[in-house]
This record gives sequence, C-alpha cells and structure tokens, in this order.
Amino acid sequence: MSVKEHPANAQSASQAARLRLGVNIDHVATIRNARGGDHPDPVRAAQIVAAVGGDGITAHLREDRRHIRDEDLARIQAATGLPLNLEMAATDEMLEIALRHRPHAACIVPERREERTTEGGLDAAGQHNRLAPIVTRLSDAGIRVSLFIAPEVRQLEAALRLGAPVVEFHTGEYAHAAPGEAQARELRRLAEMAALARKNGIEPHAGHGLTYENVVPVAAIPQLAELNIGHYLIGEAIFTGLETAVRKMRELMDAAR
Ligand code: PXP
Repeated sequence: MSVKEHPANAQSASQAARLRLGVNIDHVATIRNARGGDHPDPVRAAQIVAAVGGDGITAHLREDRRHIRDEDLARIQAATGLPLNLEMAATDEMLEIALRHRPHAACIVPERREERTTEGGLDAAGQHNRLAPIVTRLSDAGIRVSLFIAPEVRQLEAALRLGAPVVEFHTGEYAHAAPGEAQARELRRLAEMAALARKNGIEPHAGHGLTYENVVPVAAIPQLAELNIGHYLIGEAIFTGLETAVRKMRELMDAAR
C-alpha cells in the first residue's frame, strides 16, 4: 500500500481550520508526586485549561506512574467537559485501562522506562502485528486512535494500514534542530507529511518540545488539526500562571493561521 491523494480529504492552505490546543498536564502531577501529597492537583490545571479555552486535556499514564496516576484519569474526565486524550504505551495493561475509562482519544506512544520523556516516534511500521489488535479494540470501543509517529512516509503508510484515523507527528526533531537550515528542513518534512496525511484521509496532529519561540511555523501548517503541548506550558505557568501561559500559546497559534 502506498500513500496517495484522497480527494475527499484534500485541504488547501486557504482552508486552514482552527487549530485545537491540547494541554498536557502530566508535569503538574510530576510536581505533586515530588512530595507525595495531593498538591498541585492536575485536575485544577485541567479546569483552568477548560476555563481559558483549551480544547482538550492530554495525559500520559506511564507504566511507572511517574506523573499521572490511574485515579487521576476519572477525576480529570469528571472535572471538565473537555475531551481527554490518553497517551498510552501499546501494552495489555494500558489497553485494559483505556477500555475502562473510555477517553475521547487514545494516542499510542512508544515507552521505555529509562527515558525522561517520549524521545522518538512509535515504530508503527515494525510493530504492525502488536498494534493492530490494540487499534481495533480501542476503535471498537469508540475511542479515537492516534499514533505518535515520526514525520516519515514509512510510518504514515503503516498508520494507514492499521486504520488509525489520526496521527500525531513527533516534533522533537524540529524543536531540537539548530535554527536555520536544519530547522527549516524539519519544518518542511512536517508540512509535507501533514499534507500527505490529509490526502490519505488521516487527521494530522503534532506535538513535543513546542514553545512560544518555535510554535508559530508549526501552527501555520494548514493541514494540522491539533497541537499537544505540555512541558513548556507547565514550566511557563510557574512564572506567569497557567491561564496566562495557555492564553499566550493560543494567541500565537491563532495568529499563525
Ligand atoms: N504529544 C505526545 C504524544 C507526547 O508524548 C508528549 C509528551 O512527550 C507531548 C505531545 C507533549 O510534549 P511536550 O511536553 O514536550 O510539550
């Protein structure tokens, strides 16, 4: 199978729809867990995100529960009307939890215990047989499946074969590239892959390492439907408050469209 034009989903630059902002609140829980109590509560962060116009809450339940914990999921879901995007490893344990909580969306991410964050994209091409039943079971439960992949044709083709309705492109290479030609090359790659995803009927999202300084060119890619941003926003919230941080990111994203 190869990726190709899908006329029903072709979208031109002039049709750039509003870009959704999903706020990843994991690191509120990281700070909470540092002292083992219940403050600061990621639920309060989710409520603030909802109040200032965020479009969704993203949370990664990691195998080692280093930030978000099982009991946070239901509390987050109950606290706001915003859709929950659950980031999860492709494991039986996480599948069972997702099926129990029924988030709006589940983004399947690669996970290694020793990594500090999700360092690369999912090898959807190499793990087809592992991923296929998980994608099917999540989809059958009405959960919108997303695959967190590198912006590469091979991985997009694999997402197509798996029937994932959404891919989230890992923007780490872009975010960490030296400003100038290297970053411009990564941006072109993201833009080409977002266009290719749309042409094939897949909704493209993006995230990882996005900041006030680097978000605008990514937000300007017209085919992207959603950005998921966490660490930088929670870091900025320490200095300016979460409301201000989310509002400022929202303004930058809107100005780019
Ligand atoms: N999207 C996905 C799938 C992620 O795993 C993460 C966290 O690594 C993010 C978005 C947010 O990345 P960051 O915290 O760097 O903004």
